[in-house]
Amino acid sequence: MNTIERFDRYVIPNYTRYPVTLVRGEGSYIWSDEGKRYIDFFPGWGCDMLGHCPPKVVKAIQDQLEKLVHVPNSWYMEQQGIWAEMLSERSFGGKAFFCNSGAEANEAAIKFIRLHQVPKGRYKIITFEGSFHGRTLATTTATAQAKYQAGLGPLVPGFMYAKFGDLDSVRELVDEETAAIFIEPIQGEGGIRIPPEGFLQGLRQICDENDLLLHFDEVQTGCGRTGYWFAYQKFGVTPDSMSLAKAISGGAAAGAFLARADIAHDLKRGMHASTFGGNPIAAAGGIATIQMIEEEHLLENAKKIENYFRQRAEQMQQKCSLIKDIRCAGTMIGIELNVEGAFAVKECMERGLLINCTHNVVIRMLPAINLTMDQAKEGLDILEDVIVNHQA
Ligand SMILES: Cc1ncc(COP(=O)(O)O)c(C=O)c1O
Repeated sequence: MNTIERFDRYVIPNYTRYPVTLVRGEGSYIWSDEGKRYIDFFPGWGCDMLGHCPPKVVKAIQDQLEKLVHVPNSWYMEQQGIWAEMLSERSFGGKAFFCNSGAEANEAAIKFIRLHQVPKGRYKIITFEGSFHGRTLATTTATAQAKYQAGLGPLVPGFMYAKFGDLDSVRELVDEETAAIFIEPIQGEGGIRIPPEGFLQGLRQICDENDLLLHFDEVQTGCGRTGYWFAYQKFGVTPDSMSLAKAISGGAAAGAFLARADIAHDLKRGMHASTFGGNPIAAAGGIATIQMIEEEHLLENAKKIENYFRQRAEQMQQKCSLIKDIRCAGTMIGIELNVEGAFAVKECMERGLLINCTHNVVIRMLPAINLTMDQAKEGLDILEDVIVNHQA
């Protein structure tokens, strides 16, 4: 039995998988069991932001594995404390709760918001059309996309959906039961949608005027992705809390919820927990990730990559009529086409380049922030060839 046959027999087929088995990765390259090499512009769906098997993270995790694999949160552990301190110092000085994924970080956020607002009896949370917040029942409800909710009802009460980029649609939803506004500062799965000028500032103002919490889901935008530690810093709008995951531990499974220090205690003792949250392995990976980003000046590199991808995408746009819009923030790159983009994913893969397509028409790339310019050129030459020469 080969791997695909074994999956057919023993693994629940809830994912659509490419018929390729990946066996080894190094930086922005990854290899299949047939020895085919791909340049990866979508490493780990955003988790492998330092490329595959970043040496400093691997070493930190290997060293940690020999000391302690797991201890529960009924004890103190050195690494979790240092990791929380490092995240706090690079963001808004808040406190962290650790977990294992983005959905879990958002669940913590939802519970925190409700607990914070108990004295006022508020519970409603405003999220945005086209958003993506995870696959647990509450985060699927927060995700304002019908396709992810079909057949799952009744959903969790209390979520209201506004239009991304439209402050009036938010104001219309605010009432005396509203507790928070919950948003990705840049929609990732929604198609690398960057908010219009002033939108996030407007949300901050609505929150301040109505005593609401502003929560940013930075699961995809955070940890250096946009060329800033966190996307809120790019926009100059500070949230009251944020959720992180994906790239937070150099590719190891981890997530975190951070809240302003003066209100963080509202996630009350005994009211939330995660057995593996902030475990020594995840924490060692998380600390090494931050160190590697700083030592190798990777925030700056993310900005250089952004400029190069934008420039190349604009050149492609001049050469063909297929490209409708180009949206880049660090190494979050969206190229919106006038046609369905599945052909590009397929043809690029055949030619050894991995990309993604979201919402049928947006080519989405989340290349590693330590991608070299030569690697960027190598992959973009393939993408350009595929898009520019596409026969409708
Ligand atoms: C913005 C955002 N939030 C939450 C999630 C869910 O994260 P996870 O799959 O780790 O639960 C994702 C995953 O793509 C995401 O992009």
